[in-house]
Amino acid sequence: MLRNTVTMSCPGYGCVNHHENRSVAEPRPTIVTLKEGRRLLTSFPPAEARGSHGDKGGGSDQSTSVDVKTEFFHFHPTCLAETISGVSSSFTVVPDIITEAEEEMLMKEVEPHLKRLKYEFDHWDDAIHGFREIERSRWSQQVSSILDRIRKTAFPDSCQQLPQTHVLDLAKSGVIKPHVDSVRFCGNIISGLCLLSDAVMRLRHVELKDQVIDVLVKRRSLYIMRDEARYNFTHEILGEEESSFRGEAVERGRRVSVISRNQPTEESPVDSATQS
Ligand code: OGA
Ligand code: MN
Repeated sequence: MLRNTVTMSCPGYGCVNHHENRSVAEPRPTIVTLKEGRRLLTSFPPAEARGSHGDKGGGSDQSTSVDVKTEFFHFHPTCLAETISGVSSSFTVVPDIITEAEEEMLMKEVEPHLKRLKYEFDHWDDAIHGFREIERSRWSQQVSSILDRIRKTAFPDSCQQLPQTHVLDLAKSGVIKPHVDSVRFCGNIISGLCLLSDAVMRLRHVELKDQVIDVLVKRRSLYIMRDEARYNFTHEILGEEESSFRGEAVERGRRVSVISRNQPTEESPVDSATQS
């Protein structure tokens, strides 16, 4: 029987709220269980992990001093200067990090494995809807050299990366709902290489719900989400109907992301909700 490698389990405190009105929906902890029993994806960060808003923002409260470098961010008008500086310094987009030929090479290598799986559409409560996914640690030499280049861009040399690369295939109609990646299984840096389709990633502060940033994550770009953006903001990938950036529709097709993460370290925040 064809079966996705992932089963989702929602512990006692409930599932991610999937109602339309995300601005008032409180993101709830959701744990995703891989076949091996290793919980990987999502959980709500503990209060101690989040710190007070703007702590790492450099202390500036003048919006004029914020240098927004990237054309790939859309800060909603309610964003505070701390949000703009905090996210600008902890979320990076590198456009065209790979060539079309490299994208093809990567797809050729993952497609046969993805194709064996069915897209999961069953549970509207789950954090991801319309997806299939694999994890891989062995790659051809050519793909390894692409991934090495990407990891060198995303992670400092001293950083202990997770050995497995996560490949997430989102159907054209798929969505990733707001969540924060598990602090238990993943350290302070998450990078995603975007294949096949442009998309919009929305970041929303976990407490200050009007602090919203849309990030245009284009096909063949790499995003790197660290520290403040990784712990203090939920991230989501908008569905095809909702995908727009600065008022312009962004055409969403099937999208494959190649996600690398690092190991949590002793300094990493501890998720008290999942501590046993
Ligand atoms: C995830 C996730 C984002 C992406 O798998 O936890 O948020 O770019 N993925 O696919
Ligand atoms: Mn995530």
